Amino acid sequence: MGEARPGLWVTFEGGDGSGKTTQAELLREWLEAEGRSVVRTREPGGTEVGATIREIVLHHRGDLGARAEALLFAADRSHHIDTLVRPALERGDVVIQDRYLDSSVAYQGAARALGAEEVRDLSLWATSNALPDVTVLLDIDPAAARARLDADDKPFDRLESEKAEFHARVREAFLALAQADPARFLVLDATLPPETLAERIRERLTPLL
Ligand code: TYD
Repeated sequence: MGEARPGLWVTFEGGDGSGKTTQAELLREWLEAEGRSVVRTREPGGTEVGATIREIVLHHRGDLGARAEALLFAADRSHHIDTLVRPALERGDVVIQDRYLDSSVAYQGAARALGAEEVRDLSLWATSNALPDVTVLLDIDPAAARARLDADDKPFDRLESEKAEFHARVREAFLALAQADPARFLVLDATLPPETLAERIRERLTPLL
């Protein structure tokens, strides 16, 4: 978060159906076996307030403006960092988190065209400039990811239901973010076997533990 902290903060990013949850879970198992104390969390919805916000942003049936959507994600994020993530890092825990501000930059900033800079600044304001130590980007062609989601047979949420062009913009935005900040990002081809991906992630994190 800019300042020195004893814990380690890892976020997972990528399009819908890129396998973030599987990798986050494999990483948790490995770290716990290594004796680390791990907090597994996600955005939106990592806190009780966040669960209510998640319900609105993902499942509200009526109209919801793009700026209102961006503010709801930022509100969830602010509360999540203040009450859960920052305290865990100060205790020395490893925080493994599905999605963070890069998702807002990609989905709201780029795909909803609110502007990458503005949306990033909004999130940084919301969290007093909190940034992860490592962000794993699981990169996948949205068409391939869509096939995985279809196979899961779960109803699509508001964002998942957007058209192919929207998801193409999300992917491009994630790749641009990673290119701009190679020190924070680890970009992996999400079509690799899960065990190979897990191994690459462990390699990246080992020196930081
Ligand atoms: P996610 O929890 O990954 O969905 P699921 O549990 O169905 O895999 O993410 C929910 C959706 O919210 C996803 O489509 C991406 C979107 N999202 C944003 O648009 N902006 C954000 O800032 C975040 C955190 C998520």
